[in-house]
Order: sequence, then C-alpha cells, then structure tokens
Amino acid sequence: MLITFEGLDFSGKSTQIKLLADRLKQERHEVLVLREPGGTSIGEKIRTVLLDTKSTGMTAAAEFLLYSASRSQLVEHVMKPALASGTVVLCDRFYDSSTAYQGWGRELPLDIVKAINYLAGGGLVPDVTFFIDIPLHEVERRIAERGEGKDRIESGGHEFYEKVLKGYKSLMAEHKRFVVIDGMKSIEVIHDAIWKAVSAKLNKRVIH
Ligand code: TMP
Repeated sequence: MLITFEGLDFSGKSTQIKLLADRLKQERHEVLVLREPGGTSIGEKIRTVLLDTKSTGMTAAAEFLLYSASRSQLVEHVMKPALASGTVVLCDRFYDSSTAYQGWGRELPLDIVKAINYLAGGGLVPDVTFFIDIPLHEVERRIAERGEGKDRIESGGHEFYEKVLKGYKSLMAEHKRFVVIDGMKSIEVIHDAIWKAVSAKLNKRVIH
C-alpha cells in the first residue's frame, strides 16, 4: 500500500508521518518512510541542488526535471521493491507536489507535467493521499517562526503559494484518493483522523 502526504510547506506532514509509521509498526505492519526529493543517494544529491539558495537562475523546466529525476530513482530502486514485498510505504510528497508546485506554481504546461509525472512515477498511483490543509497565513507564520531563512522553494513568496494551493484544490477535485485533513487541529486529533482512514483501507484490503 502506498500512502502519500501532501500540503504546503510547514503543514506538519513529517510529524504525522512519524506518528502513523509508529502506529502501523505497533500493529505489526512492515513500514517504509520516504521523502521527496531524496531517499536514494542520487536523489539526496538532487535535493541539495534543488533546495540550495545558491542554485540561482534555475529554470522552471530544470527544476521540474530534477524533481522528476529524483522521483524516478526512488520509485524504481526503493518504492516498487518495497510495495512488491507487501510493505506499507509512506511518502512525504509525490508527483502531486510537482503538479502543484511546478505545474501550477511555476506555470509549466499541465499536460507535460502529467506525462512526465507518469514516467517518473513508474505508473504508480497512491492508494490514499492525505492533504494536510493549513491556511497560507499560517504557513508564513511558521516559516517566520523557524527564523532560519527560507530555502529556494519557500522563497517563492505569497503569490507563488497561492498558485500552489489552487493546484492542490484542482487535484483534490479531480482525484478521489485525496483525503483532506484539517491541519489546524491538534497533533493527536489529526493523527486519529489519519489513522481512521488508513485502518479502514487496510481492513478493506484484508476482506477482498
Ligand atoms: P519538504 O520541505 O516537504 O521536504 O519539500 C521540499 C520542497 O520541495 C518543498 O518546498 C516542496 C518542494 N517540492 C516541489 O516543488 N516539487 C516536488 O515535486 C516536490 C516533491 C517537492
């Protein structure tokens, strides 16, 4: 089973992924946690290039193709073998991020983004995708609170994030696999909502 997590930066995805992974392990599932971009040695190098504020002048197409290159490595070398052995794979972002950030945010042609997502995603479709929903002003507050400065993508500004959010809304309207989670609730309440949806999926899988 492939479970992906999406959302704007600082939506709390990683906290929730960790809690879900722990819960699944308690229930004796094999679990693998991955993150995009990264998760392989080539992918981690690509991640450094992508997030480095010194990577100036990167074209939108180059940015998208680098994310896709990292994804292809992860899918073929890590994800597919894990899924084939029955492991529950939790992935912090997947190709929906490319659609939202590069397709909508950077305004690359959506049909091309879709085709390359299919190629780099190796034809995989998540069983469920959680969208952790937090308002834009809260993202900006959390970025400021961290006080470390912004990475290259976070530096896109308010208008960029508005476009990204619009992209996510369009994806959620199109695909039934999305489950929207209110990211302003407490960590425990969010975890319970996620666990409810995941355990329902797992139970269904056992019955069929
Ligand atoms: P993270 O902060 O969730 O680890 O994600 C890294 C950044 O990369 C985040 O700002 C979102 C961005 N991103 C894209 O723009 N396109 C993509 O395809 C992926 C996977 C991430």
